[in-house]
Amino acid sequence: MGVLTQIWEAIPVYTGLSSVTFCTLVALLMAVYYVVSVMFAPPEFKYVPMEPLPPPVQLGTMTEEELSVYDGSDPKKPLLMAIKAQIYDVSQSRNFYGPGGFYSQFAGKDASRALAKMSFEEKDLNGNLEGLSPYELDALNEWEFKFQGKYVKVGQLAKPEESSGQTVREIPVKEASNEEAKVEGENPVTVDAETKKDE
Ligand code: HEM
Repeated sequence: MGVLTQIWEAIPVYTGLSSVTFCTLVALLMAVYYVVSVMFAPPEFKYVPMEPLPPPVQLGTMTEEELSVYDGSDPKKPLLMAIKAQIYDVSQSRNFYGPGGFYSQFAGKDASRALAKMSFEEKDLNGNLEGLSPYELDALNEWEFKFQGKYVKVGQLAKPEESSGQTVREIPVKEASNEEAKVEGENPVTVDAETKKDE
């Protein structure tokens, strides 16, 4: 007697079901499993090659309103973000700062206060450094250092009409390294007096 025949005859003994009923049930269960697993399978990953980013373009001095246009909502425009009034092209990190990105609130803004305070609150999404503690100003300087090393600075924010009482000085900064980048005007980096004091 073949093994299969033995199994066939053992099925009613062990399951209490006829061999045909048992096989039909197994086939049905397999069909249900297949349908359910297809329904809940993750979508097939499709590799979409990214278009190479255009080289950063120097934009000179702009207002906060002008900067807000570069928040990633228009995919044809570069993604910009400012720290301490210095504007950086963060297009290469669209996954962070683009729409839906974890840090998308920072795009198109001077996010100094938020970064200094490690805050995502609306009231901190600006470049106001007033009242920041030395610790927060240090944190901000670290962010600035990171950005200077990672991104190309493409401009600066126009100074507000009313000075917040903080003096500025210029320090050397990594300039746009891309030779293709057009350069308009100067690239001063502003550092508030309080920061300088803490250094
Ligand atoms: C649970 C808290 C947090 C976690 C786990 C976290 C984690 C991360 C990670 C893994 C990265 C990627 C780092 C890299 O690849 O270079 C990142 C980047 C970043 N994080 Fe956070 N983060 C947190 C909170 C915050 C907060 C509170 C802020 C500011 C308000 C912040 C601002 C940023 C920024 C600006 C970047 C991007 C820096 C760049 O452009 O390279 N993060 N974070």
